[in-house]
Amino acid sequence: MKTKHYTVHNQKLSKQDLATCTKLLQSGELVAFPTETVYGLGANALDPFAISKIFTVKNRPMDNPLILHVNSIEMAKRYVIGFPPIALKLAAIFWPGPLTLILQKNELVPDEATANLSTVAIRVPSHPVAISLITACDFPLAAPSANLSGKPSTTDGWHVQDDLEGLVSAIIDGGKSAFGIESTVLDLTSKIPTVLRPGSTSIRQLEMVIPNVIFKNKSTNKEITKSPGMKYTHYSPKAPITIVKGTPLKVSKKINEIANEQTGILCIKEHAHLYKKGQVIVLGSKNEPSQLSSNLFDSLRMFDKLKVTNILTEYPDYGDLKEAIVNRIEKAAGGKIIKA
Ligand code: TXA
Ligand code: MG
Repeated sequence: MKTKHYTVHNQKLSKQDLATCTKLLQSGELVAFPTETVYGLGANALDPFAISKIFTVKNRPMDNPLILHVNSIEMAKRYVIGFPPIALKLAAIFWPGPLTLILQKNELVPDEATANLSTVAIRVPSHPVAISLITACDFPLAAPSANLSGKPSTTDGWHVQDDLEGLVSAIIDGGKSAFGIESTVLDLTSKIPTVLRPGSTSIRQLEMVIPNVIFKNKSTNKEITKSPGMKYTHYSPKAPITIVKGTPLKVSKKINEIANEQTGILCIKEHAHLYKKGQVIVLGSKNEPSQLSSNLFDSLRMFDKLKVTNILTEYPDYGDLKEAIVNRIEKAAGGKIIKA
């Protein structure tokens, strides 16, 4: 398949490009598009055949449901049974933005989109290109992250091209994603609101609105595995990753002991001078923690470009999005952690 390429200027697509991409989506094709979190691999969420293409192209396990992207609370209401007051409250505060709500779906949502669950994940993205596509289509866009399953999510145009060139009808390049980590997935169908996936809306932000919100960062936890995507290996660059935990001096000493020239090292700016060997990538500064989240997937993909043979990383649990950052790093490492 020949992939068409479109470029975003000033957060917008030209009228003509928007019309072409809308036509592709209307005819059941896949279009990768930017959101404020990560890139999405979009398809008509009401068309089972279009949805099946997402699973084929990504090689995504069939039991991993998709998020429906809509342009407003009103549009979200079309696809759920009831919209409880707590959902209204959260949506009024956090939409458009990186919060996905799990609600009871209605009969308009095909089982293929939700992996046969009776619930549906739904959010209003804030990227103007995503909103303009949804509005032009007037149907929800089912969109998982626009990466091959198992690889790091895509947070820049070249990431999408690396994974999906020749496999999708169109790629819309909007440059670097603003947040760089996926949305927070919040289950509102359980007794107590439960975070199934920490993400770019922080736990603290949620607690301000729903103080009883539950979040347990254990992959063995039942609530977490309720989000089927959380049980699969994720976000992995080609080389195996090991997390090294401890005080900065002990961590750098340990890493200097075991690293060689082909080792990739992921650290924060404040510690970069401590590393004597290997290929160091600086995630960002702990004084500007939004850098840590926005550079994470890009850094993992850069290690592939550097052709490192193994990766050692610090444990960057800084800032408001620390749960989301360490969740992604722990998954990328497949749980391999050593104490310095
Ligand atoms: O920021 C994001 O959320 C991005 C952008 C493109 O919007 N999308 C994204 O989609 O990360 P994906 O498919 O990579 O992750 C969706 C997560 C998975 O962990 C999936 O299992 C969970 O949401 N999920 C979807 N529907 C669900 C449902 N009905 N119940 C529980 N979890 C659900
Ligand atoms: Mg994903």
